Amino acid sequence: MRTHNNGELRIQHVGKEVTLVGWAAKRRNLGGIIFIDLRDRYGITQIVCKPDNPMYGVLEEVKNEYVVQVRGRVLERESKNKKLPTGDIEVEAISVKILNRAENPPMIIADETDALEELRMKYRYLDLRRPVMQKNLIIRHKIAQAVREYLNKHDFIEVETPVFGKSTPEGARDYLVPSRLHPGKFYALAQSPQIYKQLLMIAGIERYYQIVKCFRDEDFRADRQMEFTQIDLEMSFVDEEDIYGLVEGLVQKIMREAKGIEIKLPLPRLSFQEALDRFGTDKPDTRFGMELVDLSELFRDTEFGVFRKVLEAGGVIKGINAKGAASNYSRREIERLEEEAKKFKVKGLSWLKYENDNFSGSLARFLEGSGAALREKLGIENGDLFLIVADKLKHANLALGHLRNILGRELGLIDNSRFEFLWVKDWPAFEYDEEAGRYDSTHHPFTSLREEDMDLLLSEPEKCHSKSYDLVLNGYELGSGSIRIHDQDLQRKVFAVLGLSEEEVLEKFGFLIEALKYGTPPHGGIALGLDRLAMILCGAQSLRDVIAFPKSASGIDPMSGAPSYPAPEQLRELKLEVKNEES
Ligand code: AMO
Repeated sequence: MRTHNNGELRIQHVGKEVTLVGWAAKRRNLGGIIFIDLRDRYGITQIVCKPDNPMYGVLEEVKNEYVVQVRGRVLERESKNKKLPTGDIEVEAISVKILNRAENPPMIIADETDALEELRMKYRYLDLRRPVMQKNLIIRHKIAQAVREYLNKHDFIEVETPVFGKSTPEGARDYLVPSRLHPGKFYALAQSPQIYKQLLMIAGIERYYQIVKCFRDEDFRADRQMEFTQIDLEMSFVDEEDIYGLVEGLVQKIMREAKGIEIKLPLPRLSFQEALDRFGTDKPDTRFGMELVDLSELFRDTEFGVFRKVLEAGGVIKGINAKGAASNYSRREIERLEEEAKKFKVKGLSWLKYENDNFSGSLARFLEGSGAALREKLGIENGDLFLIVADKLKHANLALGHLRNILGRELGLIDNSRFEFLWVKDWPAFEYDEEAGRYDSTHHPFTSLREEDMDLLLSEPEKCHSKSYDLVLNGYELGSGSIRIHDQDLQRKVFAVLGLSEEEVLEKFGFLIEALKYGTPPHGGIALGLDRLAMILCGAQSLRDVIAFPKSASGIDPMSGAPSYPAPEQLRELKLEVKNEES
């Protein structure tokens, strides 16, 4: 139906006769001349029609989002549009065919739209016509293609695993699907292919991958969806270094092909503890500094009772220097930061400003002679704002890490053109859940342990480190993986640490335990979040902007109306009854 697309005509095409198709993105009438921006996936080309043109009447009829076919001649534009790749030319209509009419759309279909998210999701097919959304889907596609190309070249084979299965141990709530043939029984939708990919290693597949949907019923956040996509892979006969090498090559290729950016390898590595101590988070954004500084020694003899008590109880005093921010943050603003810090269980936030060679702020009167030492240790200069937390190490780190991220954003310290990948390794294998009174796996229960910590497994599990690793990009957890347990005795011990009884283990993972008996190779793998990667590479603020048909923040699809009440006969067939339903 066309000779060219709407993104390709240039000055060298002037004089050519072409046929274009697309949607009428904008129509203007300037001094009797009609201009139409014709839009397709590839771009926009301006169509022009003067009053003496026999097609004038047809073009007068064309409204926003009409689908049209235009045959015409390429002309050099009098006033060129430098912002548009096709801005040097326009096409003078020779014949015009309206292929379809459109109702006036409920939103502006352009990068800058007036529509709120709810409306955009309700009319998602119109939202997806916006060039920015198409660009996002194309970047996502390029990532997926780069993944397939790279892994195929490295001898991986793509194997599909079931969506309907048994509960998997990723730690989120399951989505359950009732079985009609087995009333009262439910399938769980896969939270990940974790167990299946391990079974594929036992099956001798050696190198597996899958770009796979996963389902988790967890609280929504901008970087979470209930159904999301993983780039999931698993390898046999490997250790951590093999996985690092393979994944680094993969992200290098993705960055090259989806963004045209060359990243330097090897990627930096931080231990879990170093990440927390320096950046106050296990997923540090290293695009800016403002690292956490330990001030415990400096305040060892302080008169300030609160600090002294914390130190005596084995806590720490740590701070961050927001350089040049003293005048940006009033007392009220600092109170707002204190409220943010308190979300991480710290009791308060102390602060100092250094201006005109003088300290002010809640701590100033406790500095006495130590001001100079403090300035030197922290590199404090005039105009700096210093925030200090005294608490248990874990809480102080997390609170300051949160403030560091807020300040980094608010002070404009983050260069959005940079992409900083890093590995976080040496994770504690278990976390103690105080409420439940038991240990949980930090990663998942199939994660192997560092050899040197094996002896502590049953006596002091909290001191064990796992062979797991996270890949972090610009402050997001992009991926997570581990070397797995391939020995059934070790697997049983880990289940015991997690407080799972023999029956529970058999009920939940019996088939995996059984399989481990039959010659399981050493193996390991990782899963990267494709939606998160696409979101970051597109510079989008939410996963919803890189998923064609996402769910809203409350798990609703405003377009189709899902979730909805089932018909009574569907429930009868499933032998289910719904209590307290609204309708
Ligand atoms: P994990 O649970 O850490 O590991 O998930 C791996 C990666 O998947 C992405 N991700 C999500 N993305 C969007 N919405 C969500 N709700 C969501 N949950 C997770 C993140 C995360 O880093 N089986 C293991 C991997 C392995 O050990 O190989 C697993 O699923 O980017």
